[in-house]
Amino acid sequence: MRQPAQRLIVVSNRLPFVVKRDGDSKWQVQPGSGGLVSALVPVLRQRGGTWIGWPGGDAPASSELDQVLADVSAGCGYSLAPVHLTSAEVHDFYQGFSNEIVWPLFHDLQSVCNFDPVYWRTYKAVNRKYAHAVAAHSADDDFIWVHDYHLMNVAAELRDSGSHARLGFFLHIPFPSLDLFSKLPWCRELIDALLQYDLIGFQTVRDRRNFLQCVRALVPDAQCEGKGPVLNVMVDRRCIRVGAFPISIDVDTIVRQASTAEVTRKAAELHRLLPHRTLVLGIDRLDYTKGIPHRLQAFHGLLQRYPHLRERISLIQVVVPSRVDIPEYEELKNTIEQLVGRINGEYMKPGGWVPVWYVYGHLTPTELLAYYRAADVALVTPLRDGMNLVAKEYCAASIDEDSVLILSEFAGAAAQLRRGALLVNPYDIEGVADAIRIAALMDPAERRSRMRRLRHAIRRYDVFWWVDAFLAAAWTPAGDEVGEHGVPVLDLDRTPMAAANDPLDALPDGPVAEPARRPHANLLN
Ligand code: G6P
Repeated sequence: MRQPAQRLIVVSNRLPFVVKRDGDSKWQVQPGSGGLVSALVPVLRQRGGTWIGWPGGDAPASSELDQVLADVSAGCGYSLAPVHLTSAEVHDFYQGFSNEIVWPLFHDLQSVCNFDPVYWRTYKAVNRKYAHAVAAHSADDDFIWVHDYHLMNVAAELRDSGSHARLGFFLHIPFPSLDLFSKLPWCRELIDALLQYDLIGFQTVRDRRNFLQCVRALVPDAQCEGKGPVLNVMVDRRCIRVGAFPISIDVDTIVRQASTAEVTRKAAELHRLLPHRTLVLGIDRLDYTKGIPHRLQAFHGLLQRYPHLRERISLIQVVVPSRVDIPEYEELKNTIEQLVGRINGEYMKPGGWVPVWYVYGHLTPTELLAYYRAADVALVTPLRDGMNLVAKEYCAASIDEDSVLILSEFAGAAAQLRRGALLVNPYDIEGVADAIRIAALMDPAERRSRMRRLRHAIRRYDVFWWVDAFLAAAWTPAGDEVGEHGVPVLDLDRTPMAAANDPLDALPDGPVAEPARRPHANLLN
């Protein structure tokens, strides 16, 4: 079945542009970066459509701001529709329900949650606001694709107002187990709200399985049926499709940009500054889910237990500022900086070796790619992560195929990358230290063969595959097995647990062909 050439309405918490007022009250517009933007912008341009979201900040609607966004829309080939949030809404909906409840709970960190009932009420009210914007900017036959945990209630609000639109939802973060999800005081309402979508996409089969477990336990009338990557849930004579669609990156663009003379020169410069040593790289948004303190402890343990590696290895830890108004994030920054200070204080050689290079700030795309290319080992060790695109970007940028990925088994990416990466439990600080040692001493032939395998997997299932697979599933009638439009027909639930999470793992080793060029930009998520 061909996908109808329908207009697409993308709805996400943030617009793909950040609009800010600077000191002398001029509006500044900065394009957003990241996988979602680069994946969806070409589709929006091709089909026509609208992106609905928050422009950032708490500036009220004004004709001046509308004009700024209208000008941006005119230049970008699709429309932008802002949802303005008041400062109370930013506090209770974005920082509160989204980032003090759903974010920690869905990342298995219940102890960090603050189940404030005001947050829930504001979450519903703000989702209603987004639903009004969708109703105002869409026609009956548009396909509406809502993204991420901030907006789980949008479909329910639209249905309440009588909408029969086709609604898809993709969750970019993990979906928790029933034990955790049922701690949420509003768990039943939230499951009912999700079931108002027509298609629900998760990053991994494990997330989909957790979701279905919650549906079975909390919605006794629901029937789960079908096989293959997209299953059917029957409730109230409606059929909701539920699938796993691992998000990815624009591989071709990263390979092309990583090959430029400027990136090559900057990467060589890093090696000149840090000569004769293995460079281990960590790059993360400042977030407690990323496991940065555990990683620093592991690196400390490595230097303690394996003295011969001292002065022969350095960790470059880049931390990108994020959610700075939430107290946990500020505390985390202090913890990280204390640990870096302790390791360097203990082992640094004045005028010589610095064990940990710590960078706090935003990187330019060139700097980011230079770090990726210079690093012999990437240490991607989140405590829990929906996917983790840094792991995929690192492999794509490793054009010399002479590097090693150490990856947390609790990152969604581990389902696809476990055969080429060194998988670790990020809580096992001795195990992580041992993995760093193995990576640093790994035979070049093994490094190359592992990295080739990783790059092959990433190349085959890139972000364009992800968009096509989701949209194909949205247009496949319930009951049909998806396959001919790009989603592989694999019976994931019948494979053993390790492979069950991994629709993409049966990939051969072999050289990776250089890519055809694509005109889209895609960098750090
Ligand atoms: C995660 C979420 C995204 C979010 C991003 C940055 O990747 O899945 O939805 O946009 O973090 O967080 P922020 O709170 O700055 O939007």
